[in-house]
Amino acid sequence: MNVHKAELLISAVGPDQYPDGNLPEIAFAGRSNVGKSSFINTITQRKKLAYTSQQPGKTRTLNFFSINDICHFVDIPGYGYAKVSKKEREFWGRMTEEYLQTRPQLKGVVLLIDARHEPSDQDLMMYDWLKYYELPVILVITKMDKVKKTKRTAHIKQILSSIDPSSEDGHVLFSSETGEGKEEAWRAIRRLASI
Ligand code: GTP
Ligand code: MG
Repeated sequence: MNVHKAELLISAVGPDQYPDGNLPEIAFAGRSNVGKSSFINTITQRKKLAYTSQQPGKTRTLNFFSINDICHFVDIPGYGYAKVSKKEREFWGRMTEEYLQTRPQLKGVVLLIDARHEPSDQDLMMYDWLKYYELPVILVITKMDKVKKTKRTAHIKQILSSIDPSSEDGHVLFSSETGEGKEEAWRAIRRLASI
């Protein structure tokens, strides 16, 4: 997909700030530092559209991006970052849940999982939570460049057996470092957003 226009519309903390209109939206969820913001930059071929950091906890608001004026990408704060205060964590949790539960434009969620590790309890909870709210999910197994070639199959098998995704939810092997899975990720996103 050729992205000729990509811009940040707003960093929102509540529904009154969500953009108006009916463009389909795709949200990006996952553990803090898993690579959500990097994923957005990679598939839009932009270096700094979404801010990334080696330190977890970089994204702290719901960041709405307009893509080619045909859909919105919504970068959301990651979960599982211990160093954030309880108060802030609760605020992020409420803000994110409110968005995911109430936004009619939301067509699906890209859930990013780190290819190197077994999914955390919070990853499993997140997937189940998304399914409880009947949101379609694309599992993106990212940082594939960090997994040895000989270990790929075993890692993927373990991640999929632990999450046990429902048959309609696809998965994509991805790396922001090498660009692996970019086209496949776009295909899955376009299908969900009907664009
Ligand atoms: P929060 O905003 O804190 O929730 O994190 P995030 O999920 O948005 O992660 P971000 O995109 O900021 O990336 C975190 C770190 O992982 C950065 O140092 C990225 O360069 C690195 N990173 C992201 N994707 C990949 C990848 O596919 N491969 C490798 N090797 N590094 C990656
Ligand atoms: Mg981020």
